[in-house]
Amino acid sequence: MKFLPTCMSDSWWKNTSDLLQGGKQERKRNRKKQASRDTSNKPWLHAGRRKSWVFCYAIADNSYRSLRTERKDQCILISGESGAGKTEATKKILQYYAVTCPASQQVETVKDRLLQSNPVLEAFGNAKTLRNDNSSRFGKYMDVQFDYRGAPVGGHILNYLLEKSRVVHQNHGERNFHIFYQLLEGGEEDLLRRLGLEKSPQQYHYLVKGHCARVSSINDKNDWKIVRRALSIISFNDNEVEDLLSIVASVLHLGNVQFAADEQGNAQVTTENQIKYLARLLAVEGSVLRDALIHKKIIAKGEELISPLNLEQAAYARDALAKAIYGRTFSWLVNKVNKSLAYKEGEFPGWRSTTVLGLLDIYGFEVFQHNSFEQFCINYCNEKLQQLFIELTLKSEQEEYESEGIAWEPVQYFNNKIICDLVEEKFKGIISILDEECLRPGDATDTTFLEKLEETVKNHPHFLTHKLADQKTRKSLGREEFRLLHYAGEVTYSVAGFLDKNNDLLFRNLKETMCNSENPIINQCFDRTELTDKKRPETAATQFKNSLSKLMEILMSKEPSYIRCIKPNDAKQADRFDEVLIRHQVKYLGLMENLRVRRAGFAYRRKYEVFLQRYKSLCPETWPTWDGRPHDGVAVLVKHLGYKQEEYKMGRTKIFIRFPKTLFATEDALEVRKQSLATKMQATWRGFYRRKKFLHMKHSAIAIQSWWRGTLGRRKAAKRKWAVQTIRRFIKGFIYRNHPRCPENEYFLDYIRFSFLMNLKRNLPKNVLDKSWPTPPPSLCEASQLLRQLCMQNMVWTYCKRISPEWKQQLEQKVIASEIFKGKKDNYPQSVPRLFINTRLGNEEINAKVLQALENEAIKYAVPVIKYDRKGYKARSRQLLLTQNAVIIVEDSKIKQRIDYANLTGISVSSLSDNLFVLHVHCEDNKQKGDVVLQSDHVIETLTKTAMRADKVNNININQGSIKFTVGQGKEGVIDFISGSELLIAKAKNGHLTVVAPRLNSR
Ligand SMILES: Nc1ncnc2c1ncn2[C@@H]1O[C@H](COP(=O)(O)OP(=O)(O)O)[C@@H](O)[C@H]1O
Ligand SMILES: [Mg+2]
Repeated sequence: MKFLPTCMSDSWWKNTSDLLQGGKQERKRNRKKQASRDTSNKPWLHAGRRKSWVFCYAIADNSYRSLRTERKDQCILISGESGAGKTEATKKILQYYAVTCPASQQVETVKDRLLQSNPVLEAFGNAKTLRNDNSSRFGKYMDVQFDYRGAPVGGHILNYLLEKSRVVHQNHGERNFHIFYQLLEGGEEDLLRRLGLEKSPQQYHYLVKGHCARVSSINDKNDWKIVRRALSIISFNDNEVEDLLSIVASVLHLGNVQFAADEQGNAQVTTENQIKYLARLLAVEGSVLRDALIHKKIIAKGEELISPLNLEQAAYARDALAKAIYGRTFSWLVNKVNKSLAYKEGEFPGWRSTTVLGLLDIYGFEVFQHNSFEQFCINYCNEKLQQLFIELTLKSEQEEYESEGIAWEPVQYFNNKIICDLVEEKFKGIISILDEECLRPGDATDTTFLEKLEETVKNHPHFLTHKLADQKTRKSLGREEFRLLHYAGEVTYSVAGFLDKNNDLLFRNLKETMCNSENPIINQCFDRTELTDKKRPETAATQFKNSLSKLMEILMSKEPSYIRCIKPNDAKQADRFDEVLIRHQVKYLGLMENLRVRRAGFAYRRKYEVFLQRYKSLCPETWPTWDGRPHDGVAVLVKHLGYKQEEYKMGRTKIFIRFPKTLFATEDALEVRKQSLATKMQATWRGFYRRKKFLHMKHSAIAIQSWWRGTLGRRKAAKRKWAVQTIRRFIKGFIYRNHPRCPENEYFLDYIRFSFLMNLKRNLPKNVLDKSWPTPPPSLCEASQLLRQLCMQNMVWTYCKRISPEWKQQLEQKVIASEIFKGKKDNYPQSVPRLFINTRLGNEEINAKVLQALENEAIKYAVPVIKYDRKGYKARSRQLLLTQNAVIIVEDSKIKQRIDYANLTGISVSSLSDNLFVLHVHCEDNKQKGDVVLQSDHVIETLTKTAMRADKVNNININQGSIKFTVGQGKEGVIDFISGSELLIAKAKNGHLTVVAPRLNSR
């Protein structure tokens, strides 16, 4: 048994109540939906009730923690008298898990189903009894499966012996199973019509046996709604619900089937209407069902014998059918619930390892005025549970101290094994005797069974009958009764019905009829193989005994915790504590002995290996491994932890810790240690993770590198291949270069053309004067020539386009100068780079009088000149002006000579480098003084401008040696030109003007 000091501690209470009521935010988040639907399932919403469940939560929590930390299957055994609160406690535990376990979408569904399986099973398996308004009339063991994270992922329910007799009979003050009343109260009109039912329970024989169809504490209408919703949550579809309710209705109709005896005393059905409904609801042939209800089919020596039933037999057959239908449907229902709860690995992939936590809520010990086979089974079951409890707590604990060599003063307790043996022992036990009576040929009756009992177990201290009892007790015993002195008290059982109930017979023809049903549920419940199976089915009691023994195995295999419910009073009243009653329960449950053992004993014990494994991290010597014996390891460990002498004992294989607080302190230390280890591990993990990441990145980089290298290599290879091909083509082209264009040389020729054009593009002549031009290949000579012309034209054109009017004028003048002087006069080349200027004298340099005199004639050009007298060749400074019409020679303010262009017959210059020139004037006109000998520093410019103005370009004579000119009146002058070292102009002795012109280097 697990010791639960936690539930006593304030902190636990605080935590749990915080969790259940205060942990609102989280609950709100997780379960908003559910909360809004259903508050009736939430005890924490009713503050007054809260505290009474705290211990349940503590135990639930403790089992859950053990399940998670030790990964060992757990079970919680809930025991107590009928009505003590077992079922409520079970529900609270489930709700506790629903609230506290980790959640996820799928887990929510599982939780919902686990919770919602309850109202459905309770509707079909619970009923109002004298002891409890919601008494479980079946035993239930529920496994909840948890995954490794501690989330519920599935469940499974085992059901034990449903009290079927309740379907057809209830004691006074009791009811049939809730579902019948719920259906009638809550079922919609439409549904009831389909099922052929009326709203009032009074209409149905099976519902009124106990005369209390309505109970104030039960709200059938509301419960119906809860059940309907729950059915859909545990995945019933509409058809299945309809089929299920058809069966419920059919039981009610069956109860109303009546018989009357015909002349021969054979039963006949008098209620055709019921048969009609039954046929429809059970989907069977009406006439076949009717016949089956009033006949009995036996197979004797391989032959079928059909015999009619009398009234009593017919009623028995009818009731048997009703019980069979209901009982089997209940089992089907549990199966169906199990399917919806089943742990589906597909839904929770990878959560293979599950641990289970079992909850046992079985019918409690009960004593009524009349107790029958059912109470016998129920109380036997409670004996077994008490036996298990004793085995696992009082007995084994004390034995353990002994075997572990711990000094121990034994605590005495009542061991109920003797009663269990009385019931279940082979050959000698009550069940064996009952079975024997059921199976033996001949007229066995309940009375013969009682006699047999008296005979066999007469000396048993816990068994009494009227016959065996002493005078005093005999009064309280009927002749049809036997009494068992149970651990929890005396119960007197009436043997009436024991044989029938144990046989649980259903006539063959009724079975056959049900096998033919088309109602899918009935069809599954009644299996055809049953008809052919020759083996006699096990009796009810034996079945029950076997299933209980299996249950004990299941419970033994798990780590148990216990909730022992104490019933405070027999009146179902709140806040009333019947001391006698409670004292009695505490006594028979052996709780005092338990306390004594616990007080004297140890709160905690563990095998050395397990203890060391769990806490070894708390001591440097034992961490991380202890090489010696675990026993010694634990000794070192507890010493290190500072356990005091009285706090623990070292057994042979286990350590025993006396006080919970010692263990808690150790647990706290472990928690702290775990956290620091976790931090360390995190750091290691981080390092590991970083390295992993680094390696991953390194591999990635290498992969990228090699891929890229590959790509580069492939590209290079492709390029090389291309290059080889190109070179090959090139060589071939070169060989064929002089052939006409053909496939062999086209590439080459194209290339040559291309490269020539590209070369040309890069080396085009820069300007008109640039005569360079790339040498074309032979095949492109013509094209080259054309291109060259085009290029030149283009350059000329662009050049021309760029020329300004002034520059154009300049060039025109230069061209004319060139035409006149080029190659003819020595100082012409010197003039070429010098620009011609519009005029060499501004108007301000010309005398105003002259300007006035020339008022109407604009001066186009003016230049200072030297005039040589015609006779003495005296040099005189003059200005030469060109106007529109004439050449004008000016001396200061006087116009000395005007030569109209018309009169200008020509101009003479020498071929040498001097600057002299002669203007020849037409002389018929006497006004003219004759030709003029002049010298200009800008002789080429002056003459070009004059010739152009006077339109005398062709009249410029360039003479070698000498120039003759007219002096006037027919006389002639001569100017001789010779080259010399420097310029000299002088009158020679021969009267000529001699001009020595300096020789210029560049001629
Ligand atoms: N802790 C409790 N506080 C108040 N009422 C309770 C408590 N436990 C049970 N009851 C009441 O007693 C009735 C019987 O409880 P139930 O769990 O059905 O008994 P059992 O399953 O042991 O036969 C419940 O319907 C409820 O009304
Ligand atoms: Mg119950």
